[in-house]
Order: sequence, then C-alpha cells, then structure tokens
Amino acid sequence: MMVHIPHVLTAEQVAHCRAVFDQAAWVDGRGTAGHQSAQVKKNLQLPEDSPQARELGELVLRALERSPLFISAVLPQRVFPPLFNRYDTQMNFGSHVDNAIRPIPGTPLRLRTDVSATLFLSDPDSYDGGELVVEDTYGSHSVKLPAGELILYPASSLHHVTPVTRGVRLASFFWIQSMVRDVSQRALLFDLDMALMQLNKEVPQSPSLVMLTGVYHNLLRQWAEP
Ligand code: NI
Repeated sequence: MMVHIPHVLTAEQVAHCRAVFDQAAWVDGRGTAGHQSAQVKKNLQLPEDSPQARELGELVLRALERSPLFISAVLPQRVFPPLFNRYDTQMNFGSHVDNAIRPIPGTPLRLRTDVSATLFLSDPDSYDGGELVVEDTYGSHSVKLPAGELILYPASSLHHVTPVTRGVRLASFFWIQSMVRDVSQRALLFDLDMALMQLNKEVPQSPSLVMLTGVYHNLLRQWAEP
C-alpha cells in the first residue's frame, strides 16, 4: 500500500532544512547502498553520522510522532534515523529493492525494512524529473510531492528515481519496521482505523463504534509483535 502524508513539516521547517543543507558537506550516496543498488545509485547524501543529519533527523522524527495518519498507516516499532539525499541535474537512482535488514547506526539493534518513506524537501516547481516511481501489483506509480510531504511505500517494491533534468531534488528517506509485518493485515487495520476516525466524527455516541473499536484492538492484539 502507498500512503501520502501531507503537512509533515511546516514551510519554516523545510526552510530550516534547506539552510542546513547549504552549509553541509555532501558525500557519494553509494555509502549506504547494498551491492546491487550501489551499481544504479547516482546521488549525494549527508553523512549518516554528521551533526546536520542527526539534527534534521530528529526534526523529522518529532514531526512523525505528531502525525496520527503516519502512526495508523505504519504502526511503527522502529524507525531508522532519517537520511538526506540530493540529486543534482543528471543524477538518478535506477531500479532496486531496498535492503531487507539494516543495522541501526550507533546501536546494537537491527531493523527489518517493512515500509520505505520519502519526505520531499524541494519545491516541485524548482526541478524537473526526479519522480519517485514505485512498482506494485497494480502497476507503476509516479510520485512528486510538495516540500514537507511524505510518501510511504512497500520496502519490498521495485522503485527508482528518474533523472533530474533541471534544478536540485532534496529529500529525506528512511525505513520503518512495523509491529504488523504482513502488509495485507496492516492495510486492513489502516482501513478500519480510518473508518473509525470518520465514525467518531459522524456518530460519536454510537454503541457500534465501541464494538468496532474493540475489533480493531483485538485484531491488533492478534497480529502485532510489539
Ligand atoms: Ni530505495
């Protein structure tokens, strides 16, 4: 499932990210790629352990914690510290699947990448190309969002970033291990939760709402590995 999360960062936060980027030392993006993806990856990244990546990563994580839509769609157990990339003109990232398991830097923990996330940080009018293209069972989906907005997509999917032909594309990217490993179970819980939120507005006193909320939690109890 692909889920669009609007308004993750405010315009001021996006401007702050870009000011930090202007002062940062960028390195070859192949540093965090697996063997296959390194061969098709042509972009730049902030070094994972740089103070800039850490500061902005915290900013992104705090914003996600305040997003009920993100929490509901992902049911996060672990979130990889957000990374930041830059595609200058002529840069792209060919078709690949993200590594399944990633060590979390600075910890003894590992993370299973269930969900991939891209947070767009450039104004879409400021560059051409640079679409994120995700292949799933329903075909190919091209995504280019306003700065501050996030797309979630299955880490198991083949995806690529088309060549930037004008300007610069800046983004944050990271992965999430969900408490619910199975994507179809996660999608059912998300649909149910969205319907519950709507019913809460429409018929807040309905006894059926209590029962359905119970069904949500009892499914989560069966499926989650907290
Ligand atoms: Ni990828």
